[in-house]
Amino acid sequence: MKEADNFRHRAHALVDQLADYLEASSDAKDSCIPYQSPERAYSFWEQFSGDETAMYEAVLKQSISVHHPGYIGHQVAVPSAEGIFASWVSDVLNNGSAVYEMGMAANAIERRVSKELALVFGLPNTSTGIFTSGGSLANLTAMLAARAAKAPALAGEKLCVLVSDQAHYCIDRAVRIMGWGAEGIIEVETAKDFSVSASGLDTALEIAAQRGRKPIAIVGMACTTSTGTYDDLLLLSAFAKTHNLWFHVDAAHGGVACFSESEKKKVAGIEEADTITLDAHKMMQVPALTTLLLYKDEVASYRTFSQKADYLWGEAGPEWYHSGQRTVECTKLMMGMRVLAVTMGGGMVKLGQYVEQQYRLARAFAKTLEKRDSWEIATEPMSNIVCFRRIPMASIDADDYNEEIRERLLLDGRWYVVNTRLRGIYWLRVTLMNPQTTLESLIEMITFAEKEG
Ligand SMILES: Cc1ncc(COP(=O)(O)O)c(C=O)c1O
Repeated sequence: MKEADNFRHRAHALVDQLADYLEASSDAKDSCIPYQSPERAYSFWEQFSGDETAMYEAVLKQSISVHHPGYIGHQVAVPSAEGIFASWVSDVLNNGSAVYEMGMAANAIERRVSKELALVFGLPNTSTGIFTSGGSLANLTAMLAARAAKAPALAGEKLCVLVSDQAHYCIDRAVRIMGWGAEGIIEVETAKDFSVSASGLDTALEIAAQRGRKPIAIVGMACTTSTGTYDDLLLLSAFAKTHNLWFHVDAAHGGVACFSESEKKKVAGIEEADTITLDAHKMMQVPALTTLLLYKDEVASYRTFSQKADYLWGEAGPEWYHSGQRTVECTKLMMGMRVLAVTMGGGMVKLGQYVEQQYRLARAFAKTLEKRDSWEIATEPMSNIVCFRRIPMASIDADDYNEEIRERLLLDGRWYVVNTRLRGIYWLRVTLMNPQTTLESLIEMITFAEKEG
């Protein structure tokens, strides 16, 4: 009992500390990123010896604030209260989930949520999914499922996977982990707008034949990491059918388009996917890591890790309630509960509105840039990601110039802008994750960049 009182007392103090932090974070005039060098950060923490409150105070002060309206950087969720509270409960319970007794609620919730989301994606009502710690692991798991499904009929053949040249690097990493090396991945050349084209697919097949590799899977991007471009999933699903390929969609970031009536056309064809990766810790406002890997055919999710059939299938058939049978992980957090917390009630409708708001803001920002002298965009935004850069005076190197702009923004601290390289060219890049970010603030940011440059 004393333990519980002690917990209550300290937890209340922590909640107050965090609420004060959130209040301060919403002030756009304050800094979003209090940048300091790695050496300074390490020197502080090397010498730190304060109490619990002082430790949290310092962590809050020295970390980037995703709740600040100027947080427009990487694709990390701005977690909602619902998502955060679910994480707290998961941490207190610390149920391991791999076997049923260690995650009775967790495993049942995982099944409910994955079935609900499978339907949102247009998969059959027999489809299910599993939660994994991150999109990288989900994509690896999907590639393993593809191999388990397709490789047995291709014994003796050298295999490969086809994927957009704009795919997240984790697909390449997954294929290398599977032991196929650089030869096992064939990048499909994308069109000017960074989406996979029919001619790119044909060329990829030719490259596979030249390398003596047999493609077993095609990965569609919904959407790409750098530019937020959606592949034409109808084109890819038809291609997958024609060539008997596993069709995986990496919808880690942009799968949420399914929640919106106006945006879901961008993922038309996703209902044909064999597997879909959805990072809830990107656009579903839940803390990391929370990733759902959906399987059109539930059986495929058991096949991947089948080390011994009797262990997996038992007498009663597949045992959905032991989640450890279907993931790389043994112990894992109660990720499904976080997603339930943000989707139940009217949660999905709210997420749809959030997606529409952020995608609309990206379009408005791109228009503003296009209208303004000396700015250009890499491509029309299809999601909430915009790549842009300032065109310098003729004599200055454009890459250096824009790199310098990013550094100035970083040191100023009111906006956190990242960068990417597209076909060798340096671009500034924003992902408009924060519902508090306004067009006015984005205009202020580019005005700041113009004045000093
Ligand atoms: C399209 C896409 N897939 C996969 C990943 C990797 O996800 P995670 O960071 O959850 O491992 C990312 C990360 O940004 C991504 O954008």
